[in-house]
Amino acid sequence: MAQTEAEKPGNPLVEVDNLSVRFPGGRAGFWGQQHLHVHAVDNVSFTIQQGETLGLVGESGSGKTTLGRAVLRRVPVHEGHIRFDGADITQTQGQALRQLRRHMQLIFQDPYASLNPRMRVLDLVAEPLVVHGLVRNRDEAADQVAELLDLVGLPTDTLDRYPHAFSGGQRQRIVIARALALHPRFIVADEPVSALDVSVRAQVVNLLQDLQRDLGLTYLFIAHDLSVVQHISSRIAIMYAGCLVEIGPADTIYDDPKHPYTEALLSAVPVPDPVQERQRKRIVYQGEVPNPMMPPDGCRFQGRCPLVTDICRRQTPPLEEKSTGHFAACWNRH
Ligand SMILES: Nc1ncnc2c1ncn2[C@@H]1O[C@H](COP(=O)(O)OP(=O)(O)OP(=O)(O)O)[C@@H](O)[C@H]1O
Ligand code: SF4
Ligand SMILES: [Mg+2]
Repeated sequence: MAQTEAEKPGNPLVEVDNLSVRFPGGRAGFWGQQHLHVHAVDNVSFTIQQGETLGLVGESGSGKTTLGRAVLRRVPVHEGHIRFDGADITQTQGQALRQLRRHMQLIFQDPYASLNPRMRVLDLVAEPLVVHGLVRNRDEAADQVAELLDLVGLPTDTLDRYPHAFSGGQRQRIVIARALALHPRFIVADEPVSALDVSVRAQVVNLLQDLQRDLGLTYLFIAHDLSVVQHISSRIAIMYAGCLVEIGPADTIYDDPKHPYTEALLSAVPVPDPVQERQRKRIVYQGEVPNPMMPPDGCRFQGRCPLVTDICRRQTPPLEEKSTGHFAACWNRH
């Protein structure tokens, strides 16, 4: 089948414009008259090109999962727009949303939590096919599931086994097979290797890379620290307290970070050379992470930033292009 314009590498598959997500956060004030909201994602814009991996990094609570779920239309959008394959999907509902979900899948962090322990591998992986009416009987399901297991490197004689019979890495392969069942084009991988043994992390990352190459997949790959996304990402986005503070080609982010927060994250990445590793200086910024229910005016990083000046406390720094394709939101770094 011929590729459509949007399916060709280099065209945007996902476009996010000024996206904000808020959650109800209770009430404040003497009479409880003030409704608070958690500003989980604030005014975030980025694109992901067809066939690329955008790494999304930030500390716990910075809004990575919420952003990933919002793009998949799994949490309500407060403001902004999401386009998928050129179509605005911000308000898509009902049957159209169900159809859309076939193309956009989520892989969770914890393969132990995301697989029902009472279902066999066959039923776990076939479930999306059955829900979408894509298989007529058990034999057809078994054939398709066997193909999917083969694709993720699991023996096909495992169809009748339960999740507890597998290791963490194997379970994550089952999760990936299930996510691939509907032939998605876009996958949000939310810390897909964080819960796994260090020894099997690289294997699962390699599998995701191989699948991307073979199936033309596009990824948003979420991680806590930069070392995990280094090798898989073509570009990297950094989040802090709900805001996107830096985004650019992976090499540029590693070699020439522009945001002080990115510099601190980078300083935590271990270096393979033992001598350099001993000399590595960690940058640890003291100070307060903003309250997500009452974020300050201006830059969200102001409470921890050594470069803070007056303007940082008054105005939010825009995401500015510092070099070709490399954007950062900082008043004092050029
Ligand atoms: N359903 C919800 N209701 C209320 N607040 C929420 C909800 N989900 C997330 N939050 C809040 O939104 C903010 C962002 O959370 P999110 O889970 O997206 O962060 P994260 O970067 O994925 O963190 P982690 O690295 O720990 O997974 C946090 O302050 C969190 O407490
Ligand atoms: S805008 Fe100001 S507070 Fe924010 S990162 Fe830059 S220098 Fe620091
Ligand atoms: Mg998360």
